[in-house]
Amino acid sequence: MLRTRITEMLGIEYPVLQGGMQWLARAELVAAVSNAGGLGFITAVSFAHPEELRAEIRRARDLTDKPFGVNVSMLPVMMPGDVTEAYIDVVCEEGIPVIETAGRNPEQYVPKLKASGVKLFHKVPAVRFAKKAEAIGADAVIIVGFECGGHPGMDDVPSLILVPKAADELNIPVIAAGGFCDGRGLVAALALGAEAVLMGTRFMACKECPMHENFKQWMIAAQETDTMVIERSIRNAARVIRNEAAMTVARMEAEGATLEDLLPVISGKVGLDAYLSGDVQRGTIACGQVVGRVREIKSAADIMADIVAEARATIARLQALSI
Ligand SMILES: Cc1cc2nc3c(=O)[nH]c(=O)nc-3n(C[C@H](O)[C@H](O)[C@H](O)COP(=O)(O)O)c2cc1C
Repeated sequence: MLRTRITEMLGIEYPVLQGGMQWLARAELVAAVSNAGGLGFITAVSFAHPEELRAEIRRARDLTDKPFGVNVSMLPVMMPGDVTEAYIDVVCEEGIPVIETAGRNPEQYVPKLKASGVKLFHKVPAVRFAKKAEAIGADAVIIVGFECGGHPGMDDVPSLILVPKAADELNIPVIAAGGFCDGRGLVAALALGAEAVLMGTRFMACKECPMHENFKQWMIAAQETDTMVIERSIRNAARVIRNEAAMTVARMEAEGATLEDLLPVISGKVGLDAYLSGDVQRGTIACGQVVGRVREIKSAADIMADIVAEARATIARLQALSI
């Protein structure tokens, strides 16, 4: 065990969480991470209908008796037909112990979540948003650095700055995300004041991740320079793999494209088609810079075991330094 306030709060063995990943963080991956002593988040936006989310939660329950969570990522602006409230209801009704929210202030859902005993972990890309999350009653904050796969915010500040600053300025536990993939990273995050790491990219390159083998092979060959940030012009910065689709988006943005112009290239549906077909040039596919350190496709259990073993060895090495 590696004990922190996060492991205590969640009743898990190791302070290692798998963050929401649209289309990918499904029952098999989530259950595998939780069975290995961490905690995975099923990603609600993979399911068009809240009842499909409920069915996926029940499928995960068949695969693990360990705790797991649900990620509800919200669009920055409330859209007509927003199903966020319905997802939250499913989370509460199903007795899920923890929710990862992202993208928008979840304040309006706090009373419902608290009444149902659901811990709220809000994910943010800046310390000022982390403080706001603490003020509205979040139980922990996940802070993502500029290295991260997905949405790094608009400030371009990396984890090495954000994590200690958030830890200094907050009382609730801070979870470090963006750039973590191994035991040295976990120990570094703990040294900076975090009480867990949350990873996306490392668990993407995982046997239980349901994406086409072509993407997995792309990842293990990729360098840390093979991602890029797009969608800045629509204030929705996203770090994705540097493929033809991402280059097209960058070119369209430079030419003044609007959200409507970009949607046919950036819509999640195109990404799903790419994951299924194995066309690595299609779709804007979230991926962090740490892909340059992912050299092997492993099971979630092996990823976790390696992290824990390396963390222990690293702690011992550091202890020896102080004699
Ligand atoms: C393929 C992929 C899909 C993602 N989808 C989501 C999502 O749907 N919702 C969300 O809140 N975060 C999403 N993220 C972000 C991760 O949960 C996590 O914050 C991020 O991956 C951490 O940085 P790392 O990639 O360096 O580990 C995604 C990340 C990846 C790599």
